[in-house]
This record gives sequence, structure tokens and C-alpha cells, in this order.
Amino acid sequence: MNERVIKKIESLKERRKAVILAHNYQAGEIQDLADFTGDSLGLSILAAQTDAQIIVFCGVRFMAETAAILCPDKKVLLPEKSAGCPMADMITAEQLIKLKQENPDALVVCYVNSTADVKAESDYCCTSANAVELVNSLPADKRIIFVPDQHLGRFVAERTGRDLILWPGYCTTHVRITEDDIRKAKAKYPDAVVLAHPECSEPVKELADELLSTGQMLKFAARSEAKRFIVATEIGIIHALKKQNPRAEFYPASERAVCPNMKKITLDKVVSSLEDMQYEITVPEQIRTRAKKSLDRMVEVLPTR
Ligand code: 13P
Ligand code: SF4
Repeated sequence: MNERVIKKIESLKERRKAVILAHNYQAGEIQDLADFTGDSLGLSILAAQTDAQIIVFCGVRFMAETAAILCPDKKVLLPEKSAGCPMADMITAEQLIKLKQENPDALVVCYVNSTADVKAESDYCCTSANAVELVNSLPADKRIIFVPDQHLGRFVAERTGRDLILWPGYCTTHVRITEDDIRKAKAKYPDAVVLAHPECSEPVKELADELLSTGQMLKFAARSEAKRFIVATEIGIIHALKKQNPRAEFYPASERAVCPNMKKITLDKVVSSLEDMQYEITVPEQIRTRAKKSLDRMVEVLPTR
């Protein structure tokens, strides 16, 4: 059944001259059929560089929106229009404008997990892979507003020594991973290296050996001598980790760490997306040009890991 659908996707993709990008949290079968997989930063860079005129983005809305902002001449399709990110919706442009009015001298850094409207109100955008490097590149005398993820924000504040003005947003999937989950996993696999995403809560991050974006987790595992890893992030990454590192074992810190929005993309929806050119993601031009300024900086600042 899957084989037939995959063949169909392959031929539609060729006919449309499309490229399929998939985030590391997508279902395994979607990752396997994609032309490129990666983290938010890697996929944004790929979207900006591809020659393909059609990008099918297997991820959530802010990712497709980012591609549409960076590549106005390309058609960006999100196979399921309701695939959003609850964290991105935790701050509106109006709320950010108010925060800026309360802190008129501060620069605004927004996590890429945000709406285009919020990006348009921000000075810089970052992903979890380059947030530390981006904040470190800003003038030391400037205060910084960081939105919307308080957990990534605290990680950045700790690594940079900067006192950030944080917004109380969070990822509804990562906060499902508890301190207790990590303690139990460590008791079961005492020799395992614990990898956690910066979106995890602070008690979870304190128990981790490494705090990494999903792309950095893949790089780290490939270079590491360790045989076992406990992975505190959305469970889709386990597929990529196992595929790229068959010699090692990977255990999810919690089976509950599933992003329901990421999992809305199915093979059948990728078929419909290519057949009917749906759902096209566009951003109004006056928002797009302002949001692009903060995104241009994001794709320039390279992570050191
Ligand atoms: P990264 O893949 O950039 O680490 O992103 C994590 C995430 O939550 C994306 O929604
Ligand atoms: Fe948003 Fe969290 Fe899902 Fe990423 S994993 S899309 S941050 S809800």
C-alpha cells in the first residue's frame, strides 16, 4: 500500500518539479520519502537555496511560512492546513508591540516558532541551533526581549550571561517530558548519554548531558563513542537517529512527547498536496518584507555545534 503511494508521490514530484522538505519530528515514512530532512535552521537554509519552484513542507505552519517569507518567488505548500504550533500562537503581534512599548530600548529576538506577524515586529529571528550565537552577536549594552519560548530563553540567558526579558510561552509537547521520566530512564540505562532539547523544562535540562537542537542531536550522536542515548525531545527524531546511527541505541525519554501537529502530515496528504497544489502558504507583502529582515539574519548566523 505504502509503496504504491510513495511511487505516486515520486512521479507527482517529478511532474511538478517539486522538492519535499521534512522536519525531524515527522513520521518515519515522511522523513524517508523527503528529499531533505533537518531541523528548523537547516530546512530554512535549504528552502532559501533550492532551485525547485515548488516546496512541499512537511512540518508545521511557521516552517512553511518561513520558507514563503524567504522565497517569495516559490510556491510553498503545507499538506495539512491545520498543522500549527501552539507555542507560536502564544504571543500575538499586539502583545509584542505592548512589550516593546514597555521596554523601548530593547532589541527583540524571536524564536522561529512564531507567526509571521510576530517576526515582522522583531529585530532578529533565531532557531534553537543558533539562538546563543545570535544573542552573543548583539551589542552587550542592549537589553533583549526574547519571545515566545521561556525555556529556550532561559537556556540562552544562561549560556550568554545576558539578562533577557522573557515571554511565558512554551512547547506543549516538550513540557510533557518530566524530571521523573529522565530519572527513570537514567536508572534503566545508567551508561546512556542524555540529550535534551532546549525547549524542555529547566529541571529536565538540568539532568541532561547535552542541550541540542534536533539537527545538533544528529551530529552529536554521529560523532559520539557512546552506545546508548536517552532522548528528551519529540519522538520523531528517534527514527532519524536510528537510521543514521545503526550501531547505537536510542530511547525516548517519554513516549508522551508526541507533537500532534507534526503528525498531521500523512502520505495521503502529501499526494493531495502535490495533486491539488494545496495548501499554499502566503504572507502579505508588507508583513513579509519586515519579517524577512529578521529571518535574513537567522540564516546567516551559523551555530558553533
Ligand atoms: P529544531 O528542529 O530546530 O530543534 O526545532 C524544534 C521544534 O520544536 C520545531 O518545532
Ligand atoms: Fe510547536 Fe512544540 Fe510541536 Fe515544535 S514540537 S511544532 S514547538 S508544539
